[in-house]
Amino acid sequence: MNFPISRPLSDTPPYPFAEVDKLVANLKAQNITPIDFGVGDPTSPTPDFIVQAAQKSLAENTQFGYPSNFGNPNFREAASAYMKRSFGVALDMDREIAVTNGSKEAVFHYGFCHVNPGDTVIVPTPGYPSMKNGVRFAGGTPFYVPLREENNFLIDFESIPDEVADKAVMIWTQYPNSPTGASPSLDWYRKFYAWARSHDLIIAADEGCYIDIYFGDKPHSILEVAKEGVITFYSLSKRNNMTNYRIGWVGGDADLVGIFKKMKLNVDSGVINASQDAAIVALEDEDHVASMREEYKTKQDILLSAFRDIGLPECLPDSTFYVWQKAPEGMTGVDFAKKLLSPEIAIVCTPGAWISELDFEGENPGENFVRFALMPTLEQVEQAAALLREHF
Ligand SMILES: Cc1ncc(COP(=O)(O)O)c(C=O)c1O
Repeated sequence: MNFPISRPLSDTPPYPFAEVDKLVANLKAQNITPIDFGVGDPTSPTPDFIVQAAQKSLAENTQFGYPSNFGNPNFREAASAYMKRSFGVALDMDREIAVTNGSKEAVFHYGFCHVNPGDTVIVPTPGYPSMKNGVRFAGGTPFYVPLREENNFLIDFESIPDEVADKAVMIWTQYPNSPTGASPSLDWYRKFYAWARSHDLIIAADEGCYIDIYFGDKPHSILEVAKEGVITFYSLSKRNNMTNYRIGWVGGDADLVGIFKKMKLNVDSGVINASQDAAIVALEDEDHVASMREEYKTKQDILLSAFRDIGLPECLPDSTFYVWQKAPEGMTGVDFAKKLLSPEIAIVCTPGAWISELDFEGENPGENFVRFALMPTLEQVEQAAALLREHF
């Protein structure tokens, strides 16, 4: 049957990682197991003490019924304590924090809080796709600002025409950035905040997914600069290897969090208590996060040293478990990724152009890049480095 499909859905290209999955399946059909740097889903297990907390919660929680819509008090208290400890930011657990089913849905649904059909929202590219998708599905139009190497992958907010910034309702930021690994200084955040306020823009900051995965200075929260007009999105998926638990939170300006809660009441019915209980112990422990950082750093060093040896430009990320590598001279990111997928190399990465949009000047800032997610094991990363050295 020919079913009607909504305009935003029919305008949506296949999810880029579905394309990567297809390419992996093609290699597997040839009996080749590729080394997969494609999707950023941690392959290391959730730490035992977190799993045990979830199991205990399931065994002991005899209460029937839906969980709290906005998060259990002890979960919100743990999130608030984490923000205070990590960034010196005080958030009121009742008014300024609400639980989410992970950041993907929260970032997507946030578009429905403020966007009316025809509205403009400024969205950085490359960046997490749910920012633009939420805007589109709410009937708005993303105005794409590029994250370019020459600006250290920071939003060049001065380049956004005043008339666009004045009419836009909101701007998304997404630092530490997936995929570029960039993380702004506090000074940049101050200037950015002043600029956004001068245009009356709500700032929605998808900042909490990789904020604990860094290799030099600890990344900042924009909430260290100000709370008014700012809402942030946090996730335990990558910090604690908890992608399967679907848990995170929003935190910031009480009015914005209140609007988010009103919207969420219409979307779902809270987060399973076992995930909230597991998240409490996960947020309280920093040791396992420090070990994860070390492991990612080791993998990053191995891969970057191979890129250096084959003459590729140095692309050293500040944070996240991605490497946003520039392709060899004369090759686009797609060319490079395709060459890596040849059966004798069989390394999977994501072409930058697939996860970037045409910016407002008609260019794709991801064109000459590829993204490597440091998910393979240490041994596989070493194999990949050897393959790169052999074939380039
Ligand atoms: C930047 C960023 N934000 C949000 C998310 C969503 O994370 P989750 O829905 O697992 O909490 C991801 C996942 O990859 C991400 O990369």
